[in-house]
Amino acid sequence: MVPNTKTVRPAEPNELVPEDYFAEIDPRRFFGNEAPLEIDLGCGDGKFTLEMAEHHPERNFLAIERLLGRVRKVCRGAEKGGLKNVRVLRLESLYTLEWLLPESCVDRLHLLCPDPWPKVKHHRRRLFQEPFLKAVVRVLKPGGELLFKTDHDEYFDWSEEHLDAFKGLEKHAWADDDFFYPRTDFQIQWEAEGKRLQGLRARKPR
Ligand SMILES: C[S@@+](CC[C@H](N)C(=O)[O-])C[C@H]1O[C@@H](n2cnc3c(N)ncnc32)[C@H](O)[C@@H]1O
Repeated sequence: MVPNTKTVRPAEPNELVPEDYFAEIDPRRFFGNEAPLEIDLGCGDGKFTLEMAEHHPERNFLAIERLLGRVRKVCRGAEKGGLKNVRVLRLESLYTLEWLLPESCVDRLHLLCPDPWPKVKHHRRRLFQEPFLKAVVRVLKPGGELLFKTDHDEYFDWSEEHLDAFKGLEKHAWADDDFFYPRTDFQIQWEAEGKRLQGLRARKPR
């Protein structure tokens, strides 16, 4: 077979393009240091990631998003802000956690305003269920945390039930002023419509 060496799309600045989508990637290699790693799953337009990266230059931020237009926007935002600690990966969140990242490499995982898939026939598409929680435990360092927010009350209840049933993560209280935590684009949009967000914070035992 003749190898296909044609480049389909040039990478954006700060975009992480794995050489091999079937082999583990080493975050230390693509950031060039061993700083703590935080991941924003389904980062959207990237406001959260970019503000966090600016506030915490001593940490690395990997933003994961499947839509190309949004990936481009976050890449350009990082470039414009001179943020050396941001990389953007255009890939599916669960696949990345299950297969691409090495075990125990992540300090904090953020899942903010994910698609709630409100119709019962679509609930199986929801990210927050056992395979996701297993993958979260796989990639988190001991003591690492999952931070989740949603505006959708029924999805919040579903997620809390799945978390409680799972046992591999310890639930913790999360007050607004516990630490710096910027509002996401969707949060701003929904709060302007009078919707309230609920959050979950869960830690991998040490
Ligand atoms: C409702 S938006 C929230 C965006 C951002 N987190 C915020 O709060 O502003 C959900 C985002 O997740 C992305 N997304 C949904 N499912 C995904 C998946 N399985 N893997 C990667 N990205 C995903 C969507 O393209 C969209 O940008």
